Amino acid sequence: MGLKPATNPDVEAVAIELSIDGKSVTAKGGVSLYDVISSTGKIIPAMCYHYTFDPFGSCGMCLVMQEGKKAPVRSCTAKAAAGMIIRTEGDDLFQARKKAVEKHLSVHPLDCPVCDADGHCELQDTAFRHGVTNLANAKQKFIPEDTRSPVLDFNMNRCIACAECINVCKDVLMIDALQFMKKGGFNQVVPKGDLALSCEFCGDCLAVCPVGAITNKFSKYLYKPWQMKKTTTTCNYCGDGCQMYLETKDAEVVRVTSPLSWKNKWGDRAETAKGHGGLCVRGRFGFEYIDSAARLKQPLLRKGNQLVETPWLETMHQVVDRFSEIRRKHGPDAIAGLITARCTNEELYLFQKLMRAGFQTNHLDSSARYGHLNFVHASRHALGIGRSPNDWEDLTKAKAVLLIGSNITETNPLTAVRIKEAIRVYKAQVVVIDSTVTNMAKLASHPVLIKPGTEGLVIDGIVKATLDLDLIDEDSIKKHPQAFKALKAAVAHISLEQVAAHTGMSVESLKNTAAIFAEASPSIILCAEGIVRQPHGYQNVLKLIDLAWVTGKLGRPGCGVNTVTEEPNEQGAVDMGAAPEFLPGQASFNDQTARDRFAKAWDVSLPAAGSGANLVEILKRCRSGQIRGLYVIGENPLATLPASMEVRAALDRLELLVVQDPFLTDTARMAHAVLPACTSAEKDGTFTNLEGRVLRVREAMDPLGESLPDWHIMTALANALGCQWEYESSNDIQAEIMKLLPGYYNLGQPRKVVPTVDRYLSNGYATDVAARYRASAPSDSKNRRPFVLLMGQVLYHSGKLSTKAPGLITIAPNTGRLRMNPQDMERLAVGEGTTVRLTSDLGSMQLAVQPDQSITPQTCFFPEHFNEPPVKDLMSVQVDPTTGVPSFKQTRVTIEKA
Ligand code: SF4
Ligand code: SF4
Ligand code: SF4
Ligand code: FES
Repeated sequence: MGLKPATNPDVEAVAIELSIDGKSVTAKGGVSLYDVISSTGKIIPAMCYHYTFDPFGSCGMCLVMQEGKKAPVRSCTAKAAAGMIIRTEGDDLFQARKKAVEKHLSVHPLDCPVCDADGHCELQDTAFRHGVTNLANAKQKFIPEDTRSPVLDFNMNRCIACAECINVCKDVLMIDALQFMKKGGFNQVVPKGDLALSCEFCGDCLAVCPVGAITNKFSKYLYKPWQMKKTTTTCNYCGDGCQMYLETKDAEVVRVTSPLSWKNKWGDRAETAKGHGGLCVRGRFGFEYIDSAARLKQPLLRKGNQLVETPWLETMHQVVDRFSEIRRKHGPDAIAGLITARCTNEELYLFQKLMRAGFQTNHLDSSARYGHLNFVHASRHALGIGRSPNDWEDLTKAKAVLLIGSNITETNPLTAVRIKEAIRVYKAQVVVIDSTVTNMAKLASHPVLIKPGTEGLVIDGIVKATLDLDLIDEDSIKKHPQAFKALKAAVAHISLEQVAAHTGMSVESLKNTAAIFAEASPSIILCAEGIVRQPHGYQNVLKLIDLAWVTGKLGRPGCGVNTVTEEPNEQGAVDMGAAPEFLPGQASFNDQTARDRFAKAWDVSLPAAGSGANLVEILKRCRSGQIRGLYVIGENPLATLPASMEVRAALDRLELLVVQDPFLTDTARMAHAVLPACTSAEKDGTFTNLEGRVLRVREAMDPLGESLPDWHIMTALANALGCQWEYESSNDIQAEIMKLLPGYYNLGQPRKVVPTVDRYLSNGYATDVAARYRASAPSDSKNRRPFVLLMGQVLYHSGKLSTKAPGLITIAPNTGRLRMNPQDMERLAVGEGTTVRLTSDLGSMQLAVQPDQSITPQTCFFPEHFNEPPVKDLMSVQVDPTTGVPSFKQTRVTIEKA
């Protein structure tokens, strides 16, 4: 049974007895009477109720009779009390509820034939159930529709003032973008201040609106609910792995909905710790890339200087002949492959099998190399686990969350909603350490603003403060006295005052953070792009693990060091072995037992142990001419990596570049052959989300044009190369993975991973630890370039894929402008739109500026999704010596008025 969000569902409440329809029921005292009634299996009408937020009590539908009271009571706002005698049925209640429906209908426009909610409307359903036929007194409100928002239209003629939209936005999302306002004699829902809607555009208000008062701009008037095919699948934008319904009509995607709906309003409040079922703006409104006119529908083959549409057969012949020739003349090491982590597990598995068993090369990599592998390697090295140990429920129920280097509401918005619930319902202390004023920092109990690039130093300070304040967990360190001694020695030279001076985080705040993390239980660390995509990312994750170890948070239920993944299947890419260092199951590529097992299963000899080039190395070898043929699936290194990586030169030198993608990307334009691939909406498979949950991706529509699923193209290619693969569906590949990695598909539940630190602490830790606390000596503060340029993700976009979704581009177009703190703009005497010269050690360019309060002084920001102007080319690249992860999201610059 659910308690309301104002109350922590875990808090003990007095057990009470009450009577419902003559049956004795035990409940927790003080909870909503409505919840107690629903827990008995009785569903009474309730139009303003939703289990995810506090009851509002406006619709007058949930009426019950309570002994001792003359009039019916609203059960949603009534609190259950011992001895209550409640009746939920009877003609008197039916008539009272019917009156309530009639009241709503008396000011409702009855424009059902043109309303998007027709056939999906709680008011319609309730009127039908109560036999409401007399509508003669219906009055029109004549309120003009508010169409100012880019994604939602507000038709307040239809509003029944239930406040579900306001409540979900305020309580669950903590955004609070809507309010009631009395206008034209009616209580209307308006964006705050009655201005144009300014919010995260998640559409959760649309989802819970029980009538057609809030409508989706992209699908308005396009459908009737019963005309649509609804496919349950997993979002293809980020690693949160939200479940969504892709609704299609005549091979067109019409809208995206999700489990959060007024139709799904009866749930257990405690269950929301696992997710509230909503979506973010990308998931809900970013679907238009799927049937975009820009999709590739035919293979393209380079003929002279042009890419020309060519039949599949001819294109594949060319691709196979030319790859085979390169292999024959120069050996398998002259071939390499790159794949995006937007592919399914089955495709990632097949990709590495194709490279290793088909081409016989171990030069392969995925987009997990852009940062996630820093986390995976550190976590495997220290703890023996290659992913985040905690799930959403752990995060929601943590008593302390240390969020460092993560603008989580922008990158992983639904994981952010879990932290919001931790703050609001479970009263967690949340420390947000970032160089930007993030949205989460505004909600956190302890927001800490630091100088960009000093995250590693901040961790040094927190570890040092933990030791100084003796916040250590005796049980954890007593097993490993040598390791503890080594850690103490390693941090002995650190001065908190110096850390404070270099990072901007005060000594008091360092100590306070150490205390909050150590003393709360359970407590969780969550690090992201500001750690794993930055130089020393691997070492910095190890330091966070040190912190968790000495405070006794390793292996303890609900505690751990975690990260988030930016693309939907970065974890799957690593798990499936799409990296030169890993075979499937994260077995080391050099592990002889694992090699034997896979060689036997695939009936091949694997490329030599120790061989294999990662992304950076592959590009280098392309430039040097060692690699002559490159197979790129869904990746776009030319548009992603800075000019200093010389990607164009690398691709130019290739004898054969084959790009397989739904779109003609910058990299594809350089290709010799382009193979049209489907999006995830047109294929089956699975993604592994950031919790380690394996989630189904389902085919919602037929492949567009002649595009094909990546697994299908790879199978054809492998067979033409001489393999004998018999996969006819993604299920066939899944069956093979199941045999090789038993337990991987764990029915949607993440496999529990238990960190074990003992081996690490007693084996090489002392040498390791000394090196890593030396590694992050502060950079030269007298740098002649006074600003730090940051590139990163924004909420409305994901990689370059979202830029193909017109809805998201309407909300967040490329302004081509550099975002700066208004104070800096004033100091430089530049106004909005003024052109400045932005100069790094690698080059210079002119672009306009725009003010942004979330950007801290002395920093500036440009979204990584856009290359006009090519700001990324000012970035230098630092490659992690252990993990090969290239960092290129931060550099020092000067800004002058042009
Ligand atoms: S779209 Fe989301 S953020 Fe915007 S008003 Fe609706 S619920 Fe709030
Ligand atoms: S707009 Fe919809 S959800 Fe919001 S108050 Fe009106 S009827 Fe309720
Ligand atoms: S949070 Fe991530 S997975 Fe969920 S809807 Fe948004 S982009 Fe998709
Ligand atoms: S559900 Fe109780 S008053 Fe609306």
